[in-house]
Amino acid sequence: VSIAVNRTRSLDQFMGKLEALGIRIARPGEDALFTAEPEPSMVPMHWKWSELKPLFSDLSEHLKLTPGGARRTLKLANPGLPYGTTPTFWASIQYILPGETATAHRHTPSAFRFVMEGEGCRTTVEGENYPMNEGDLVLTPSWAWHDHVHHGSGPMIWLDVLDISLVRSLNSTFFQDYHRDVQPINQVPDRSYRQHGSGLLRPPGEPSSAAVSPLLVYPRSVMESALSEAEALPADPNDDVILEYQNPATGAAAMLTMSLKAQTLRPGFRGSYHRHTGSKVYWVISGAGATTVGGRRFEWSSGDFLAIPSWAPHRHENPGHESARLFRVDDTPTLRAFGLYREESLPDDWTATRDQNR
Ligand SMILES: [Fe+2]
Ligand SMILES: [Fe+2]
Repeated sequence: VSIAVNRTRSLDQFMGKLEALGIRIARPGEDALFTAEPEPSMVPMHWKWSELKPLFSDLSEHLKLTPGGARRTLKLANPGLPYGTTPTFWASIQYILPGETATAHRHTPSAFRFVMEGEGCRTTVEGENYPMNEGDLVLTPSWAWHDHVHHGSGPMIWLDVLDISLVRSLNSTFFQDYHRDVQPINQVPDRSYRQHGSGLLRPPGEPSSAAVSPLLVYPRSVMESALSEAEALPADPNDDVILEYQNPATGAAAMLTMSLKAQTLRPGFRGSYHRHTGSKVYWVISGAGATTVGGRRFEWSSGDFLAIPSWAPHRHENPGHESARLFRVDDTPTLRAFGLYREESLPDDWTATRDQNR
């Protein structure tokens, strides 16, 4: 949709006058601000693990971890965006070798890590020390000091996601290095998990009113047993077996801006076409399957990443004989907070209906 304004010499002169005053009017041929539905510039992307994994040895040659230096990460850049994996967050893959330290700092963008491979790293968040092992989710709330020290014997690889695209667009980024490489550990190890990890019982007294989750680590074993319990329930028509990591104090999403989910697509599952506002990134924990986004079919397998833009019709399938497990991050909490969340089911032949309407 473009705006119809008759271009004349006097209009050009008028616009020149306005520009000098820092004022604009609708210009001929300009894209309309109001589109009938979302028209994201973000594009669907599929990053294959078979292409990413060989990059890590060169990456560790080129990027040495230094105190206060950049983290060693491969950022999943969306070619449709000036920066970010999606308009609200950056997803990166962080790589740490045995004996290395990612030194302490804090920032206003909130972060989480989902451990893709490896054992033996420990992270300290605000003086509390946690193990980080394969399949674990660890939160780093906004402005919390954090550092990571790898005590294990093989490389550690984790998915690192920050809501930095959103925070940047709100001009609210603050960052600080800690005055030492690592923080002192001044809390009982795993304190938040000891207090809130069961999700069923908690320390007595007034419930925490904090919107930020009091639980900082969500271990793999808990995610796996919750998913296998949920398999006995009726399947979700879009997502088969899906659960959201929650803030145990409020029942809301574990993070304020992003929703984190774990999902199983059982053999033979074929989801319905649907779409929702907000952007999402999937990481394939195990197994294989396919997701059709718009008219494109992406066949994914263990270790791959898939990014789906807002409002893009999509469907998931597992045509194989083994279950596929996915980890997903999306910005649903941000959309809900501003009353912008919408979802819609689509018929299998939605492409035909769409073409008729054009
Ligand atoms: Fe950080
Ligand atoms: Fe979906």
